[in-house]
Amino acid sequence: MCNSKPPSKLVMLMALLSLSFLLCYGVEKVHCSTVHENNQDFHSLLDFKKGITNDSNGAMSNWTNNTHFCQWNGVKCTLTPPYRVTELNLTGNDLAGRISTSLGNLTYLSLLALPNNRFSGPIPPINKLQNLSVRLLYLYL
Ligand SMILES: *[C@@H]1O[C@H](CO)[C@@H](O)[C@H](O)[C@H]1NC(C)=O
Ligand SMILES: *[C@@H]1O[C@H](CO)[C@@H](O)[C@H](O)[C@H]1NC(C)=O
Ligand SMILES: *[C@@H]1O[C@H](CO)[C@@H](O)[C@H](O)[C@H]1NC(C)=O
Ligand SMILES: *[C@@H]1O[C@H](CO)[C@@H](O)[C@H](O)[C@H]1NC(C)=O
Ligand SMILES: *[C@@H]1O[C@H](CO)[C@@H](O)[C@H](O)[C@H]1NC(C)=O
Ligand SMILES: *[C@@H]1O[C@H](CO)[C@@H](O)[C@H](O)[C@H]1NC(C)=O
Repeated sequence: MCNSKPPSKLVMLMALLSLSFLLCYGVEKVHCSTVHENNQDFHSLLDFKKGITNDSNGAMSNWTNNTHFCQWNGVKCTLTPPYRVTELNLTGNDLAGRISTSLGNLTYLSLLALPNNRFSGPIPPINKLQNLSVRLLYLYL
């Protein structure tokens, strides 16, 4: 991915964190539905969507509750259960709004690409990802 067109900003962050999984247990009112078996990532993405104030291209039109979040536009997940979000790429969709700090809870994220949108406000502390083993996070903002 590094030999594609250079992004406006590329930050590689090493996240050195302990390995532990937050699954569908022990979390407040979590129910493990068939569609959204990982509530943590589902809710993190939903919260991100709530921060979007204008999606004039309909880039997030299939970000709905009856579609698995791994099939939402721009989202890629691990290939095996528990399905966790590994990539969020909404490049060039003219999205307006703010970038939710909930992205910091996508603990399997290794690529976040959001250039060529109209986000405003601060970039949340995505580097404060918790509970991961050593890995790289590619940020294109
Ligand atoms: C990270 O791990 C700690 C201790 O195991 C736990 O209390 C916390 O809820 C975990 N956070 C996430 C986001 O998985
Ligand atoms: C949303 O964005 C489109 C494209 O930039 C713009 O034409 C439209 O006026 C915007 N709508 C609102 C409510 O800001
Ligand atoms: C989707 O699910 C979330 C969490 O379960 C809920 O807060 C939201 O209202 C639901 N949205 C729709 C359109 O049903
Ligand atoms: C959601 O939209 C994207 C982009 O149009 C598409 O690739 C994906 O298959 C769609 N997902 C579903 C479940 O239709
Ligand atoms: C993001 O998605 C776009 C469109 O699908 C693609 O052209 C681009 O290479 C992707 N960016 C990254 C960093 O993977
Ligand atoms: C991240 O996850 C934790 C544990 O589930 C939750 O308490 C917190 O509100 C989440 N943070 C955001 C910004 O969504």
